[in-house]
Amino acid sequence: MTKTINASQRVRGLRRVALAAAVTLACVSARPALAADAATIQRGAYLAVVGDCAACHTAPHGKPFAGGLPMNTPLGRIYTTNITPDPDTGIGGYTQADFARAMREGVAKDGHNLYPAMPYPSYAKVRDEDVAALYAYFMQGVQPVRQSNRDADIKWPMNMRWPLKLWNAVFLEKGAYQDKAGKDAAWNRGAYLVQGLGHCSSCHTPRGIGFNEKALDESGDAWLTGAALDGWFASNLTGEHNTGLGRWSEADLAQFLKTGANQHASAFGAMTDVVNKSTQAMNDTDVNAIARYLKSLPAKGGDGGPAYAYDAQATKVSLSRPANDAGARVYTAYCMHCHGADGRGFAPMFAPLAGNPNVLEKDASSLINVTLNGTGDLVIQGMPAPYPMPAYADVLSDKQIADVLTFVRAGWNNQAGAVGAAEVAKMRTRTQAAR
Ligand code: HEC
Ligand code: HEC
Ligand code: HEC
Repeated sequence: MTKTINASQRVRGLRRVALAAAVTLACVSARPALAADAATIQRGAYLAVVGDCAACHTAPHGKPFAGGLPMNTPLGRIYTTNITPDPDTGIGGYTQADFARAMREGVAKDGHNLYPAMPYPSYAKVRDEDVAALYAYFMQGVQPVRQSNRDADIKWPMNMRWPLKLWNAVFLEKGAYQDKAGKDAAWNRGAYLVQGLGHCSSCHTPRGIGFNEKALDESGDAWLTGAALDGWFASNLTGEHNTGLGRWSEADLAQFLKTGANQHASAFGAMTDVVNKSTQAMNDTDVNAIARYLKSLPAKGGDGGPAYAYDAQATKVSLSRPANDAGARVYTAYCMHCHGADGRGFAPMFAPLAGNPNVLEKDASSLINVTLNGTGDLVIQGMPAPYPMPAYADVLSDKQIADVLTFVRAGWNNQAGAVGAAEVAKMRTRTQAAR
């Protein structure tokens, strides 16, 4: 009896070995050019995280990299594409050269131009060896998924793609990142990641009339000075004292990218997804390099107001007599138990509001949006944030939200402009559809 089981087990075992060998052979013979080693594929997987390909190419509840995520562009809604190695509906038929052209020049295998919602103006700076590793990963490390691409909801004549060739001729800078002389290895690594795969500027640099980023590296004045996008304001990342990273140390910045929060601020809105899917999984060398590079950027943008200094005196008085101040009334009832009477919150768990760069920012979109709608969960190493910012859309009126944000923007010596109820009403309408 025991013997029989052993024999049949052995037969099954042998069959499995034979099957595995046959599959391996089939794969090798079908794709002779694709003999990338495991280390290269693994490096490609890491680079896909740094480039945050999944943020756009994986739809919520969708299969990894099968596309289908809707994206709003100035022309209309488009859908991300299937970049799994399925030969019919994905990029299984792409050679490495085809893949490199799509990533760095925005041209698909069949020759059509991609919309720059795919951040190829940033990926243009990615070096050959990294493109090769990404290709190895997408061909051999990603599960093929059969899922057809969806056409964009853009009507003729705006759906014609040939004008994108002109766009590229004007705005696309070709050529991979070149190390800058006189800068150390960490700075150059940071610059390479921020400008290239990390595509931080696609959100953080303001755009011009052609939807082009106004600068593609630190030589431009607009570089990373902050930009409005889809209901959020992506913060100023230069050394600007009030609204930028002037008061942050390199260690503060690294902590923010790794954990989504530090003593100055917390990630919310569009940045939550970036931290969840990308920056927290970057290795320490890369995170520290990004921090080194960003902290080297001189102050740009901002409103040139006096340097922020904490002062709680006047705010203490308003909070002790909230009846006299509509904003203080809302704050004491709805916000104070988390953000504190001193405006310092309980960082990094509850973001401080005193001196917070996002609170000092002239464009109040992020503050209005986060107060109306709260924010998606920050998930660090699999653990969701225990007490995320609640949504107040159904609790507070437009006027109450305007009042409390006006209070917060004036409190603790913040000296940022008032928020009007009309601005809140506009954001409410704009974000209602998405909720
Ligand atoms: C910010 C969103 C975004 C990110 C991040 C992004 N993509 Fe894309 N990608 C798109 C969109 C949108 C398209 C389709 C554009 C179109 O249809 O014109 C696209 C198209 C492509 C295509 C062409 C596929 C085809 O079927 O024509 C490839 C290849 C590609 N992306 C690879 C990548 C890789 C690799 C990464 C990560 C390194 C990445 N993308 C990150 C938005 C993104
Ligand atoms: C999809 C858009 C998007 C991308 C891509 C993006 N960010 Fe952000 N980022 C935002 C938004 C919106 C905010 C404002 C909300 C907040 O503070 O979390 C922000 C905030 C930040 C902050 C906090 C600044 C402050 O003053 O509180 C830092 C630091 C930051 N981003 C760094 C980066 C880096 C580094 C990259 C590239 C690796 C990057 N971001 C890519 C949208 C983006
Ligand atoms: C349950 C605790 C809690 C309450 C109550 C609360 N918040 Fe928050 N708030 C947070 C947390 C936590 C964050 C950081 C983002 C996150 O992780 O959700 C935050 C972030 C913010 C931010 C963005 C600041 C930044 O840069 O991180 C603003 C502005 C804000 N809250 C305003 C308010 C206002 C106004 C109220 C009252 C109407 C309020 N909050 C009530 C917990 C709270």
